[in-house]
Amino acid sequence: MQKRNEHIRRLEILLDNIIKDLDLHMKWLNTLSYLEHTGAKKIHKANLGPYLTEKILSHACEEARHAYFYKKSIRKLKPEIPEDFNYDYKNLLAGFSSFKYFQGLDWNVLKFIKEKFIDSKTSFISFLCYLYVTYLIEERADMVFHIYQERLNKANIPINLGGVIREEEKHLEEIYEMIKRFDENYDKHLYTLSEIETNLFDWYLTRLEKMVFHSNEDLISVHQEGLE
Ligand SMILES: [Fe+2]
Ligand SMILES: [Fe+2]
Repeated sequence: MQKRNEHIRRLEILLDNIIKDLDLHMKWLNTLSYLEHTGAKKIHKANLGPYLTEKILSHACEEARHAYFYKKSIRKLKPEIPEDFNYDYKNLLAGFSSFKYFQGLDWNVLKFIKEKFIDSKTSFISFLCYLYVTYLIEERADMVFHIYQERLNKANIPINLGGVIREEEKHLEEIYEMIKRFDENYDKHLYTLSEIETNLFDWYLTRLEKMVFHSNEDLISVHQEGLE
């Protein structure tokens, strides 16, 4: 709980500073787009076999649409996005760390599930990994997107995440139901995996802060604020 409150506070400060700077804000939206696109790609690449249901296909479609939504929202900040504003790391905010956050989570969840479900088929292990990674990412997205929307409203920037937030909330509920159905020890497993995600996100947030707060003093003051 303490970590959660700390992350909320740090995200508020980070996002206020990103929004103030056009270049950083464009990169931030592009990074959200990149992460959504990565999510959609991961679902298509996962070897889900018999577990690939209509619901999961709809998740993949919606993640792809979210990637498009964030990409086209850049135009609200700058009507002509340069042609080459692609997912090159130079156009992202902490691009390599964004990649590592997602990959790191995938890798840790896979390792954990493989140990716990040693006799299960590959498709079942992939399916459980998909469920847990998605659940953890959706929970994090819920926190980040709500704070981002608040900050956008405060700055009177007409970008509305309402549709994306509603779809992410629906995904979270559906995924939670599936986790409960397919893993009888889901509460214990979720507890451990949430801690892993919290540590990874903490690392990722620090990388984002380093990109936004250029001086060490600024960074130190963000980390100290709220502790006093
Ligand atoms: Fe999404
Ligand atoms: Fe989602």
